[in-house]
Amino acid sequence: MTENAEKEQSPSPQKLAGPAQDLKDMADLVSLCKRRGFVFPSSEVYGGINACWDYGPLGIELKRNVKERWWRAMIDREDIEGVDAAILMHPRVWEASGHVAGFVDPLVDCKKCKSRFRADKLDAAVLASKKCPECGGELTEPRQFNLMFKTHMGPLEDTASVVYLRPETAQGIYVNFLNVQQSARQKVPFGIAQIGKAFRNEITPGNFIFRTREFEQMEMQFFVKPGSDVEWFEKWKQTRIQWHLDNGIRKAKLRFHEHGPGELAHYAKAAFDIEYEFPFGWQELEGIHNRTDFDLGRHQQFSGKKLEYFDEEAKERFLPYIVETSAGCDRTLLVALVDAYRFDGDRTWLSLHPTLAPYKVAIYPLMKKPELREYTDKVYMDVKKRFRATTDEAGSIGKRYRRQDEIGTPFGVTIDYDTLSNHTVTVRHRDSMAQERVSSENLVRYIEEKFEKWNG
Ligand code: GAP
Repeated sequence: MTENAEKEQSPSPQKLAGPAQDLKDMADLVSLCKRRGFVFPSSEVYGGINACWDYGPLGIELKRNVKERWWRAMIDREDIEGVDAAILMHPRVWEASGHVAGFVDPLVDCKKCKSRFRADKLDAAVLASKKCPECGGELTEPRQFNLMFKTHMGPLEDTASVVYLRPETAQGIYVNFLNVQQSARQKVPFGIAQIGKAFRNEITPGNFIFRTREFEQMEMQFFVKPGSDVEWFEKWKQTRIQWHLDNGIRKAKLRFHEHGPGELAHYAKAAFDIEYEFPFGWQELEGIHNRTDFDLGRHQQFSGKKLEYFDEEAKERFLPYIVETSAGCDRTLLVALVDAYRFDGDRTWLSLHPTLAPYKVAIYPLMKKPELREYTDKVYMDVKKRFRATTDEAGSIGKRYRRQDEIGTPFGVTIDYDTLSNHTVTVRHRDSMAQERVSSENLVRYIEEKFEKWNG
């Protein structure tokens, strides 16, 4: 322990710190995200646009960290290649995929208050009564509503020019299956990974960035020999839940949900969701699907081009089965924030895993003095070479700690007058608030070791 800022951390008489609590109300997270620069309402100066959000300086860092972890977990394997396919695809793709005919939600409107509901999400008794759950007004009959956004390619806005904003990234992988397999000289089983935007005209978007109309997906399609699909499906289920655990997400907050026959998508033989327990209940975070040969079969049929794989060793041709892992990038980021959020009655902090935290280290002079600033700059430049770091000299040291706590920076490093004489700095730990004196020369190695052994 040091002289450093202890008294500034003790709670004021009105705000006694208690045990750490989880996030209870999404509004608290929405407010933190705006205040600290994670996520802003889109087009806010015009009053915003429903369910569209912009990532701010810290949000984009967090998002890049999520994507980088996912990408490395996929692409560092010898049996997975990456692609980045176009958002606009040939319109026949969406006929083949089943989206033109089948990507629909049943929509009911209240004639009185104009609220809009997905009929399949309404309680059966409410639907049968045809009364609005909000105001008791009369509900319309369900109408089928296609979730794909349409636009026009070229100057003519006629039916021949209709194209769709892709509702999933997966199709860009299927139509490139042979291009990738042949150019990368891969053998089945192998996978193709992609991160990219997807668009869905959701009837009921909401819960912050949980369900939006524009979002990013991180999808991987694994092509396997028919008959080995069940085994690969099980492997990918385990691999994917472990990835979320390695993001620091608490085990008790994750579970599998198996799709029953009524829930299975038109393409799936088996499907499990990885669900997370949000403040608004258990909800899907990622889907793992056994898509059989449905996709390649349909594209083969609609395009008239053979998409079979030739197994050189067995001298046989077959249409591979596909095991898909499909995670929402924004939803993964939301889970990271929700799971990390802590409040003890006084202090709010994000207990983010260091690989996800936008900044790993914050470095401060105890006071705004040139001699402390000079030393701080030296330490800052040194640490910055190894970790994403920030520095801050505005306000009391206690306030600066709190600011970094709220954005999830795992370590704070303070330079004080003792530093000038004995070349040691105070390292403060975000979660426990414990402080240790560490030689400034060993600081980078000290932090590296803490991250290597990180267990929350
Ligand atoms: N290719 C399969 C597929 O798209 P999905 O279950 O419809 O499957 C996969 O979507 C993941 O994409 C979901 O688990 C979720 O994380 C994310 N996702 C889907 N719709 C979303 C939306 N409207 N807003 C944010 N994320 C969404």
